[in-house]
Amino acid sequence: MKVALTCNLKKKDDSKPPDFFSEFDSPETVDAIAGALRVKGHSVDTVDVDHPRLISYLKQNRVDMVFNIAEGKFGKFRESEVPAILDHLNIPYTGSGSFSLALALNKAFTKKILKAENIPTPNFQLFSKDSEELDRELRFPLIVKPNREGSGKGIDRSSVVFAKTDLYKKIQEITNIYRQEALVEEFIDGKELTVGILENGKVVILPVLEIDFSNCRNSGEFFYSWRMKEFQGSAALGLAPEFYCPARLDKEIETRVKDAALRTHRAVGCFDISRTDIRLTADNTPYVLEINPLPGLDPKESNFPLMAYAAGMKYEDLINAILMSAMERRKVRVEQPK
Ligand SMILES: Nc1ncnc2c1ncn2[C@@H]1O[C@H](COP(=O)(O)OP(=O)(O)O)[C@@H](O)[C@H]1O
Ligand SMILES: [Mg+2]
Repeated sequence: MKVALTCNLKKKDDSKPPDFFSEFDSPETVDAIAGALRVKGHSVDTVDVDHPRLISYLKQNRVDMVFNIAEGKFGKFRESEVPAILDHLNIPYTGSGSFSLALALNKAFTKKILKAENIPTPNFQLFSKDSEELDRELRFPLIVKPNREGSGKGIDRSSVVFAKTDLYKKIQEITNIYRQEALVEEFIDGKELTVGILENGKVVILPVLEIDFSNCRNSGEFFYSWRMKEFQGSAALGLAPEFYCPARLDKEIETRVKDAALRTHRAVGCFDISRTDIRLTADNTPYVLEINPLPGLDPKESNFPLMAYAAGMKYEDLINAILMSAMERRKVRVEQPK
C-alpha cells in the first residue's frame, strides 16, 4: 500500500523562541514511523506540510492512505488543516477528523463539552484580555496556560498563581506572547496520569501511565511544564520525573480513570488514537485536563509508545494498529502486504 506520512518537521532556527517548534516532530520520530510502516511492506513518502507542497504532492501521487501526524502551523484550527484538505480530496487518513482536531486544540471548548457530559474537569475561565473580572467561584491556586497549544508551551513555574496580581501578570504575558486567550483553571493537586486509547478493531485502553514529579520539587515545577517535557530526564536540572506504567492505582480507581478517558475520547469524537491527560485528587476524582488526538509518537520519549510497550506491543505494532484502524473505519480495501 502507498502511504504518505504527513508531518511538520522541527527546524533549527535561533531567531524563534525556544518553544516555537515544540509541537512539531523530530526527524527521529518521522523516520521511526516510516520505518515501522515499511517493515510491514508499505511504501512510504514523508511529506513535510510546512512547505506549500502537500497539495502538489497529492496531485502528482496517488496514495492509498495518509498517516497524519501534522500539527499544522496557521491559525486557530491548525491541527485540522491537513484532514480538511484530505477530506476535500476524499483521501483516507489516520486519526481524528478536522472537527475533533480543532475542538481538542481548543481546551476551553473541550471543557465545556466535558462539563455538559458530566466528566470532571477543573473549573475554569477564559480570558481574552486582562481587564476581565475573575469569577468569584474560582479558588486559588490557579494555573494559567495558553488555550490552544500543547507540549507544555507557555507553562512554567510562574504559571501556578496564588494571588490576583500574579494572575493578571501571567494572563497578560500569555495573551501577548502566544497571541491567544489565556485559560485559567483551578490547580488540581494530585497524581498526574495519562491514558492512551487505541481503536484496534475494538477499543483498547492501554495501561495508565503515572508521572510522579516528587523528585522535581526543587525545580519549582511539580507538573508537566514545557521544561519538564523538553529536558525530561535531566536529573541535574531537577527534571527527572518517575514513570509508572501501569499506574499505582487500585483496580476500581483505575477503572474510573479509564472510563473518564474513554468518555472524553467519545465526547470529542476522536478516531483511532487519543491520549487524555488527567489529574487524580486525593478523593480519587479523575479531573480531565485535555485530550490529545495527535499524541507524540517518539519511540523513545513520548508517553503514548511507553503505554503501548507496557501493553506488550512493539513500536511497529502500534503504528500499524493505527493504520489498520483507519483502514477498517474507511473500508480501504487493498491487497495486504506480505
Ligand atoms: N488544572 C491543572 N491542575 C494541575 N496541573 C495542571 C492543570 N493544568 C495543567 N496542569 C499541568 O500542566 C501540564 C500541561 O497541561 P495541559 O493542559 O495538558 O497542556 P499541554 O497541552 O501543553 O500538554 C499537565 O500535564 C499538568 O501537569
Ligand atoms: Mg497535556
